Amino acid sequence: MELDELMGQAVEHLRYLREIGVTHIGEAAPLASPIPEPSMPKRPEPPVLFEAPPLLVESPAPRKTETLEEIRAELGDCRRCKLWSTRTNLVFGEGNPQAELMFVGEGPGADEDASGRPFIGRAGQLLTRMIEAIEFKREDVYIANVVKSRPPGNRAPEPDEVRACSPFLFRQIAAVRPKVIVTLGNPATQALLQTRVGITQLRGRIQDYPADAGIKVIPTFHPAYLLRSPDKKREAWEDLKKVRAFLRGEE
Ligand code: URA
Repeated sequence: MELDELMGQAVEHLRYLREIGVTHIGEAAPLASPIPEPSMPKRPEPPVLFEAPPLLVESPAPRKTETLEEIRAELGDCRRCKLWSTRTNLVFGEGNPQAELMFVGEGPGADEDASGRPFIGRAGQLLTRMIEAIEFKREDVYIANVVKSRPPGNRAPEPDEVRACSPFLFRQIAAVRPKVIVTLGNPATQALLQTRVGITQLRGRIQDYPADAGIKVIPTFHPAYLLRSPDKKREAWEDLKKVRAFLRGEE
């Protein structure tokens, strides 16, 4: 590899690190302060869910499962909860069907609703940089949400919506069978871990996915929250480094 190309890659990598809020590498001096993000409309952190959704996947043993296409086909033009009436497109999920790393968000926003693709708006662009910061490409991972239809006004999904939709997420997880799932924010973390404990306490802690101990869950902050609270990017970076270390067999 030419020196110029190597330098270019190194500069690009440092840029990613700075963008997601890394200010130090090892013991070295600060790289830079995090790039300030234009302010995002405030939304209170979602409330803790009161009822955990049922986990559909019972057996921890590896087994032959249905395909993502079969799960998508069964969802059809879903009307299992009230969100169908205000959505434009159902957002199923996308990425590598055999990904070792999966990201789960709460539900589509306006851009995702308009396009039918997960995490493509501003939060999605930050998620892509977070993925690249740990040396994955977006197309290497699988990205999905707890609810597949946009909650109006970007509110958090309500418990009945989570209950109706999360079985499809559990089936997507069983089909992909990643090594690690990164849950983004409270609704995803609480739905997957079947807990009422909040993201601030759970972030960065490696947990077993309740339905399959062969899959680890590592919660971190939602990128939309990081856009509103850039000072939290440092903690998200610590969580992402844990994900990378685990997948490299270093944890
Ligand atoms: N926020 C989410 O939780 N999911 C998306 O797909 C986009 C924004």
